[in-house]
Amino acid sequence: MSELIEVLTKDGTYSLRSVFFKENFHSLLGALEETKIKFTAPSDLQRFKDKSLNVLDICFGLGYNSASLLNELIKQKSYLNLYALEIDKKPLEYSLRNKYFLKLWSPKIKRIFESLYLNDYFEDQFFNCRILWGDARKKINIIPSANKFDLIYLDGFSPQKCPQLWTIEFLSKVTEKLNPKGYLITYSSSAAVRKTLRNLGLEIFSIKPSFNDRTFWSQGTVAIAKLDKNKLKPNFNFENLSVMEEEHLLTKASIPYRDQDLNSSKDDIIKKRLNEQLFSNLLSTNKWRKKWGMTKSALRS
Ligand SMILES: C[S@@+](CC[C@H](N)C(=O)[O-])C[C@H]1O[C@@H](n2cnc3c(N)ncnc32)[C@H](O)[C@@H]1O
Repeated sequence: MSELIEVLTKDGTYSLRSVFFKENFHSLLGALEETKIKFTAPSDLQRFKDKSLNVLDICFGLGYNSASLLNELIKQKSYLNLYALEIDKKPLEYSLRNKYFLKLWSPKIKRIFESLYLNDYFEDQFFNCRILWGDARKKINIIPSANKFDLIYLDGFSPQKCPQLWTIEFLSKVTEKLNPKGYLITYSSSAAVRKTLRNLGLEIFSIKPSFNDRTFWSQGTVAIAKLDKNKLKPNFNFENLSVMEEEHLLTKASIPYRDQDLNSSKDDIIKKRLNEQLFSNLLSTNKWRKKWGMTKSALRS
């Protein structure tokens, strides 16, 4: 499963490409930049200055999302309880060998990552981190049910390449782990994922694009069970869905991925969804694209 090719992205940081999934781990625009814009900034970490938080990082990969989180939390002296899920040890092995990756962060990150690699665990006065190796669909069950997360990062390969991690059944397990005021954050702006999260009872928001371009209409999705609107700050990194994004959820693209027993193959999940789309009366996604003058986005979605 794990033939990986090194990729240098445009912000000068390194990432990988999976031959098996036929997809890059990060946008070619920049691995570090993507982490910061799509995961770290929407996390609103200042909320946890001198406090403790629980985070679940689904699809740890090279560890950019966790490293960026830990790096910020070191600066602001927060206490962290982190769970990470990942099927493949090779990306972390790669990170630990890549001096440019390690140089991006405080030296403590290297110690934490080495310990996660060797012992699946790291603990000190501030941080308690564990990584559970294996299929996230199974390993998520090991996390004690009393553990609710303030932040959940969902960074699987795109729904078309790895639908297993975007199904109603898996997302339902993930949302059960979310604190009522917690944020579930993903780079995906897929209509199927957004509609599923909304149907699971969450309020969904769009991560603001950093520049104005029809092909980059969103940087991802933040889903929250109970949003305290009074506490929203002006520097808010996400906003309500635009009319265009709402209409996206009325198209066939919003038909969900399903995996009843959480053990279906990629091909079965895709086939089932295509069949459902074929018989659906929802609007055509192509018409929606034409209406809003869009070409298919070249980014991960
Ligand atoms: C887009 S990459 C994640 C990038 C990562 N967050 C980072 O910062 O480097 C997707 C990751 O999902 C992992 N993966 C794929 N299928 C999985 C599964 N069923 N369970 C857990 N991890 C999975 C892959 O091994 C890969 O590391």
